[in-house]
Amino acid sequence: MPAKKKMKILNAVSEVVPFLATGGMGQVAGALAASLAENDKSLDMRIIAPLYAEFRDKYEPQMKFLGATEVQLAWRTLYCGVFELVQDGVTFYFIDNRRYFDRENAYGYVDDGERFAFFSKAVFASIEITKFVPHVIHSHDWQTALVPIYLKTHYAWKYYDIRTVFTIHNMEYQGQMPGHILHDVFDLSDEDASIVWYHNCINLMKGAIICADKVTTVSPSYAEEIQENGGYGLEPIIRENAYKLSGIINGIDTKTYNPETDKLLGKNTYSVENLKGKKACKKKLQTLFNLPHSPRTMLICIVSRLVSHKGIDLITLMLDDLIRMDVQFLLLGTGEHAYELFFEEKAIHNPDKVAVSIAYNPDIAGMIFAGADVLLMPSRSEPCGLAQMIACRYGTIPIVRNTGGLGDTIYDCRLGTGNGFVFDDYNARALMETVISAQDLYANHEADWLNLVREAMQFDFSWNQSAKAYSKLYRELDHR
Ligand code: GLC
Repeated sequence: MPAKKKMKILNAVSEVVPFLATGGMGQVAGALAASLAENDKSLDMRIIAPLYAEFRDKYEPQMKFLGATEVQLAWRTLYCGVFELVQDGVTFYFIDNRRYFDRENAYGYVDDGERFAFFSKAVFASIEITKFVPHVIHSHDWQTALVPIYLKTHYAWKYYDIRTVFTIHNMEYQGQMPGHILHDVFDLSDEDASIVWYHNCINLMKGAIICADKVTTVSPSYAEEIQENGGYGLEPIIRENAYKLSGIINGIDTKTYNPETDKLLGKNTYSVENLKGKKACKKKLQTLFNLPHSPRTMLICIVSRLVSHKGIDLITLMLDDLIRMDVQFLLLGTGEHAYELFFEEKAIHNPDKVAVSIAYNPDIAGMIFAGADVLLMPSRSEPCGLAQMIACRYGTIPIVRNTGGLGDTIYDCRLGTGNGFVFDDYNARALMETVISAQDLYANHEADWLNLVREAMQFDFSWNQSAKAYSKLYRELDHR
């Protein structure tokens, strides 16, 4: 019997590790492909992403130029180069157009709509060059929301048997754009307007939800919440399309995030059996942030974007109470300016208790995950969240609010075997009570605390289960 042909999946995404990740989406896209490449030989998942200036020079020597074509976007005829790079068994295609992608940052430009409309069309145009005709194109968030839309409006005549999966990593950013750029920038006709039109503007995420064959989000609970009242206005659309919606929890790359081998930890690597290194990591972290070396003071950390839906407003309300306790507080992140100033000022006035670094720095984040005792994630909403899983892996106990993926990954140790602390109500008091209870366990019941640390470290956050769920989903679309 001839071997069954592999099912081809093209993962179209605006950022991906190890090349570029400004947030969780890029990590997830890369880790999912790596896990599938290793564990499911019946799938051939390749990734297509923009070629940004940020990593272009570094990786150019390893890249192979496959060819170039033109992309027509309304009246524009645009250059579209295609490069290939194979890394750890995964094939990456990069779309080259310097006008759009040779910029300092990945996003945040006035023409972002145009840039990602170009990229979404390039996903189809590049097929002629790569000759990789996918069964399924899997796209993510508003930046590639136009992929399932363009398949229906522009490419169905040619690629009628390609199916699409659209993953929502965060409902908050929907790609809302002014209506007047419908023809000129998005190259959509009046007949197509109803696909993307919502609440008096263009809403790319809405269009993708309607056009995709399957819609997923990054945790089962979030899939429920966005139908009820966590959909930032898109609840009715989500409900109408609930028949094709599912929630698949993200995993983390447990090879990268491994306290036994993590290079960031230097000689202080550690394991469930021997936690000595973790103590050394704490000391190092206290030195790095100029905090007193007190091994028995609970070190609480936050590694987050400083925006209100991450629960940062709750932290501002309870920080003074926290400072009065026997704890140290460490924050790493960037975001809304008012929050940045608030925390910097607290650090200036309480140098022995509070340390702050207004930065986005994965290496320092890694040192914090290893050296801290507790991670706070009191999010108002959290599609999945990765930091709580990474923290567990390093024996840093998460305190999370019961929302989205936080509730799906963290179990309250006060209710039985758990890997963290969970509170329900979104208010500073509920958070504070939970911190007090964690601090009591930490300070007065050391053996129990260490058991909790070990439980957390051994929790399975690998991609295995989730990758299987995605494989199953793709298979449901296999019709060739
Ligand atoms: C977004 C979400 C986060 C999720 C990540 C990866 O950044 O806010 O909760 O973990 O995407 O899916």
